[in-house]
This record gives sequence, C-alpha cells and structure tokens, in this order.
Amino acid sequence: MAYGTLYAVGVGPGDPELITLKGLRRLQSASVILIPQKDFSIESQAYRIAKTYINPERQKILFLPLPMTKDLKRLNSAWEEILKKVIPVLEAGQDMVYILVGDPFLYGTFIYLFELLKSRNPSIPIEVIPGISSIQAASARVQWPLAVADERVAILPATYEEGESRDYSGRVDPISPFLRQTLEQFDTVVLMKIHRVFDKVLNLLEELGLVENTIYVEKVGFPEERLVRDLRTLRGRELPYLSLLIIKK
Ligand SMILES: C[S@@+](CC[C@H](N)C(=O)[O-])C[C@H]1O[C@@H](n2cnc3c(N)ncnc32)[C@H](O)[C@@H]1O
Repeated sequence: MAYGTLYAVGVGPGDPELITLKGLRRLQSASVILIPQKDFSIESQAYRIAKTYINPERQKILFLPLPMTKDLKRLNSAWEEILKKVIPVLEAGQDMVYILVGDPFLYGTFIYLFELLKSRNPSIPIEVIPGISSIQAASARVQWPLAVADERVAILPATYEEGESRDYSGRVDPISPFLRQTLEQFDTVVLMKIHRVFDKVLNLLEELGLVENTIYVEKVGFPEERLVRDLRTLRGRELPYLSLLIIKK
C-alpha cells in the first residue's frame, strides 16, 4: 500500500484570511489534523487561526503535547511519542496535516518532525505548504518595507539573555555576539522571540541610538494585536511570546 503524505500547512500569522488557498484546501480536505500544543492551559494559536475552517464532526484533531523546555531529553521523548502516533497512520496510507503559525520552515516546530521522519522512514512523502510569516504580516501592517534595491535584511531570534540558541540537532548556535554586529551592519533587522529578553535588547538599541528606528509588533492579525512605537513604555513589562521587533535604519 502507498504511504500517506504528511503535509505541513502554515496557517499564517493570525488573521484567518492570511492562509493561502492551497493551505486552506489541504486543511479542509484533511481527515486527520495534527496540532502541536506547548501549553494545554492555552489554546494553540495555530488552532485558533484555523478552527473556522475545521469541521470536528468530519475531521479528527490530534493535539500533540510538546513541553515548553530547552531540555533536549524531554523534548526528544515528546517527539518520540509524537512519532509513535504519526508514523503508523502514514504507513497505513492515510494523509495527515500538521498546522502551525506563520510559515512551517521559519522557526517552526514542524522542522523537528520533518527531520525525524526523514531519518526514520525516508519513503514517507512530505509536502510543505508555505505560510505568510509573522515578519511579512508585521511589515505590511506597520507599512515598513523590509528592503528595497540593495538593502540587506537580517532575521534573528533574540535569544540574547541565554547567549545561545539550539537548532533541532542540539547544536549550540551562539547568537549573542552577533546581535550588536547585525544591528550595526544590516539595513533592516527583525528580532523574533523577543518576549523574555526585551529589556536587554532595549538597552542595546538605546546604546546604538536605534530606539526611534524600531517598532514592536504583538500578535499581528489577531483581534488583540498591538503596535508600539514608543519602546520605552514597554520596559519591565511582561510581553507575550507572539511578539517581534522590526528595526529599520
Ligand atoms: C517559533 S517562531 C514561529 C515563527 C512562524 N513560523 C512565522 O513564520 O512567523 C515564534 C516567533 O514568531 C513571531 N511571531 C509569530 N506569530 C506572530 C504574530 N502573530 N505576531 C508577532 N510575532 C509573531 C514571534 O517573534 C514569536 O516569538
């Protein structure tokens, strides 16, 4: 029997109208929808975006628990549990659709599943349907073009406090020393995952005289979206995970 296909559908950054036509069709025709869930007390943001298009009477929804941790042992065991649920279904010939916020290949949890599945059973077909990322949505919303002509754009996770981030294989990728250099060298810088390190980044922006060149974008496209130009008003505040900064010289 032929294997089922694993589809990754990027459902866009928040506004349900920002899903692609292809993603929407795939989502609506899926019999099994996989939704990664980092915290069961909070509704998955991808599900929140996609649920107007999902019919729970016809479609099976599988929430996949993922711990909110950088502890690789716990993360790996969570992915092993997910593989146990996913591989037999795909091997039995059924398609599955994994949904996530923005684009699947931009810091998406799907990348872990993609790599694991390729190594466990490379014959299982995978299709990635791109989504509009939060970066594109934020740029359009605040009407700050990301780049024109020969301008250079950088995208960084602002994992500044920790001084390091890890890729899916656990490789330590130190970015902290690069943040200052990046801000100095690029015309536009987008900082993602800003919520826990905002004050430190603000200090650096002040030092480099870039506070007035920066905009804070929170939950773009969701009803509770917030755009803040006066960054100093955010100092010491608790910020949500779905927030980013665009710095444009
Ligand atoms: C794990 S990454 C996922 C990125 C996503 N795949 C994308 O294409 O936008 C999570 C980070 O994306 C950014 N993000 C995602 N959705 C957002 C939104 N609606 N508003 C602002 N930032 C968002 C935040 O910086 C957040 O910390």
